[in-house]
Amino acid sequence: MAGNTIGIDLGTNNIKIYNYAKKQVLNEKNMIAMEGGNTIYATGDAAFDMFERTPDAIKVSSPINYGVIADIDSMQILLKKMLAKSVGHSIKSCNYIMSVPTDITEVEKRAFFDLILMTGAKERKVLFVEKPIADALGVGLDVNHAQGILVIDIGADTTEISVLSLGGIVLSKLLKQGGNQLDESIIAMIKKEYNLNIGKKTAELLKKELCSLDAEPAQSMTIVGRHVMTGLPREQEISADVVERAMEEQFQLIVDAAKMILERTPPELASDIIDEGIYLMGGSSNLAKLVDMLSLATELEANVYNNADESVIRGIERIIAEKEFSKLATEMKEKIYY
Ligand SMILES: Nc1ncnc2c1ncn2[C@@H]1O[C@H](COP(=O)(O)OP(=O)(O)OP(=O)(O)O)[C@@H](O)[C@H]1O
Ligand SMILES: [Mg+2]
Repeated sequence: MAGNTIGIDLGTNNIKIYNYAKKQVLNEKNMIAMEGGNTIYATGDAAFDMFERTPDAIKVSSPINYGVIADIDSMQILLKKMLAKSVGHSIKSCNYIMSVPTDITEVEKRAFFDLILMTGAKERKVLFVEKPIADALGVGLDVNHAQGILVIDIGADTTEISVLSLGGIVLSKLLKQGGNQLDESIIAMIKKEYNLNIGKKTAELLKKELCSLDAEPAQSMTIVGRHVMTGLPREQEISADVVERAMEEQFQLIVDAAKMILERTPPELASDIIDEGIYLMGGSSNLAKLVDMLSLATELEANVYNNADESVIRGIERIIAEKEFSKLATEMKEKIYY
């Protein structure tokens, strides 16, 4: 399928497009800023820059919620813009491979298909791949031959836990938990501990700077919030410990779900998983405490990656480029209901 094939991973926070001809990934915020309900003000990274800074008349939103399309009109506008940036004007002549979450309804899956046709793609040129398969390929695994791979993709609004074997998905569970929910918990904790209101961008910064695997241990960071009583801005030093505590409950939900999947995994597949450990992907996967909790609870080694947020799109790149994986992308099954 190589040639002029385009890969698309529509994440809740980030939209990733791979252009095979240029060998390039475009990775921008999946956000749109609208003025007065129908005028596009900004898209992608430019819309994100305006987030939490705009007057009431401009609304900044993400058209994907919890991994599925929530606002198809905005998503269509945004996808067209991003495709124009990545591909130029040859949208109609390109082939497409798009990733979709596994554990969603047929109607939700179908919306991805409709979306891509609405942007101008030709029906017979559109294929789909389930995200966990692309994830595993993206970090270099031989999905076709491995007999037990445990993949956990922790993104912005979702955590998808899957067991793969011989090119297929044996078990999977989609949780509505990801980096966005962690940010919300951090906001709530700062309010409770310090009576300060902070924005989502500040919460995300605290999480990344203080709690990532590459963060210095026992760090702290000074932020500016607005006092709940006085309404005045105030500086406050926040320690990594407070931020970690805010996220712990959600980490536990992910750990419990991973354990449940492992308990249901057929023993024939479990031996590979024991040898290889867990593969952690998605932008929220390198949080030190979460990695520790997962390893401890499952007694498995955790494999974490740099650029973990691009594992799905890198997997699609391999499907396009490496012939042995081309069968992993398939037509939308529910097309028969046309
Ligand atoms: N270094 C980091 N440490 C912790 N969290 C991070 C880091 N880098 C990115 N994130 C978080 O990762 C999330 C984005 O990840 P990703 O791009 O995988 O999500 P997505 O694909 O848009 O969402 P989804 O797959 O849930 O639809 C954000 O919540 C962001 O805050
Ligand atoms: Mg994702």
